[in-house]
Amino acid sequence: MNMEHIHPHEHAIGPQDRILTKGHKPLAVWLSGLSGSGKSTIASVLEKKLLEKGYHTFLLDGDNTRSGLNSDLGFSDDDRKENLRRLSELNRLFVDAGLIVISAFISPFESERKLARSKIGDETFFEVFVDCPLEVCELRDPKGLYRKARKGEIANFTGISSPFERPSTPDVHIRSDKLTPEESADKLVEVIVPRIEL
Ligand code: ADX
Repeated sequence: MNMEHIHPHEHAIGPQDRILTKGHKPLAVWLSGLSGSGKSTIASVLEKKLLEKGYHTFLLDGDNTRSGLNSDLGFSDDDRKENLRRLSELNRLFVDAGLIVISAFISPFESERKLARSKIGDETFFEVFVDCPLEVCELRDPKGLYRKARKGEIANFTGISSPFERPSTPDVHIRSDKLTPEESADKLVEVIVPRIEL
């Protein structure tokens, strides 16, 4: 789109003002991993733990955002890219709002995760690789989707007929087949708190 006639406003209140009101710095905690790797469960436990410590949090989950904001998108490479572009913009807005945003998206492409980092900012982007072997995810198959994908009933399924590029430089690497969600969330709290304290 031609941006020639779009003039963003500078408002009186900025991110710094919100940080002072909230009493902590914002952060986009971005959980990437295969379907069934435990992203949503870990995100949920993590949010509870951070909220109990008095931090202002918000949780974004791929399955939920795909039911609303991104309900017009499917799972082709282009649609996933658009899905993640919108979610990166959403993260940026919530970070500006002063929140600890916890995102659980498969986000299978390194290029899109890099784009998210550059949009949101190095200081406020925290990448977590929820790493669980495909065989384990497939055995768990909590939504029965792997079974359907193997039978050819779901196209472009991540790990089966669509690629997952393993994050090469995540801020934290979690082996979710070896840790419980509780242990994974504790590990994250330990590294996140120093990043958000004033
Ligand atoms: S992403 O690849 O674009 O980041 P996102 O996290 O938003 O994916 O959505 C993934 C969720 O959509 C999965 O947890 C699963 O429940 C559902 N889903 C439906 N079809 C697919 C598919 N083809 N590949 C992966 N996940 C799918």
